[in-house]
Amino acid sequence: MRIDLREQVAIVTGASRGIGRAIARALAEAGAKVVLSSRRAENLAPVVEEIRALGGEALAVPAHTGRMAEVERLVEETVKAFGRVDILVNNAATNPHFGPTLEADEGQWQKILEVNLLGYWRMAKAVVPVMRAQGRGKILNIASVAGLRPSPGMGLYGISKAGVIMLTQLLALELAPDRIQVNAIAPGVIRTRFSELLWSTPEIAERILRATPQGRFGEPEDVARLALFLVSPAADFITGAVYVVDGGLSLTGGLA
Ligand SMILES: NC(=O)c1ccc[n+]([C@@H]2O[C@H](COP(=O)([O-])OP(=O)(O)OC[C@H]3O[C@@H](n4cnc5c(N)ncnc54)[C@H](OP(=O)(O)O)[C@@H]3O)[C@@H](O)[C@H]2O)c1
Repeated sequence: MRIDLREQVAIVTGASRGIGRAIARALAEAGAKVVLSSRRAENLAPVVEEIRALGGEALAVPAHTGRMAEVERLVEETVKAFGRVDILVNNAATNPHFGPTLEADEGQWQKILEVNLLGYWRMAKAVVPVMRAQGRGKILNIASVAGLRPSPGMGLYGISKAGVIMLTQLLALELAPDRIQVNAIAPGVIRTRFSELLWSTPEIAERILRATPQGRFGEPEDVARLALFLVSPAADFITGAVYVVDGGLSLTGGLA
């Protein structure tokens, strides 16, 4: 099966590094015009260069997904540059709190919900009118295995990701008549800056690897390959689904 995304326009949030960068590259390699977003333009510039060097088309539009005005501007700039939006990959997330859930403070709750949950909702809200007018679209939300089962120490984050999964299912239902498919990927531990504490602290890393049947951490490309399929026409009959990419970690008890 060849995935051809020529003539399609994609927005990827959190595209300056890690999983978002790998997804943006994979979409560009399949021919999509990719709008890369994150908070800081200087973080996006090298990824734009990388994609252009591969012969792809990419544009950087910085936006903080916690702010509606910036999210709306991101969608407006995309339409201005490329005339449409076929694909939204909601990927930008944060985790300001590790530790027991009741030890978090309200500021940490607000930050995590603003970005991880409302940020995905804001992006969908801004993009759906464009997709509706086109008569089709794909939204892919990057969730986490921490949103499927409790991961002690990562309670706020897990709750925000459980919210992302419910948001995915609700939007899938609500947007099916508009021919917009909404799916989620729930990664396990993928080697990025975000999860560095988990894979670079020897005691934690060893425990996770013991609990992972495949005996390795994931790489951003492990997620990107599935993302490419889910936003492509090959997945037109798939909506409201949540795919785990974790080397089997959640079969043995997850991060608990
Ligand atoms: N790595 C894992 O093990 C793992 C596991 C499960 C799920 N995930 C999920 O996968 C996604 C990507 O994570 P990652 O590991 O690739 O993280 P990462 O390497 O830390 O990248 C995070 C990206 O998000 C951007 N970002 C952060 N806050 C933002 C905001 N408020 N507005 C816009 N952009 C923002 C960052 O760029 P700037 O700093 O320039 O804004 C960066 O591009 C997240 O949804 C994460 O929850 C990761």
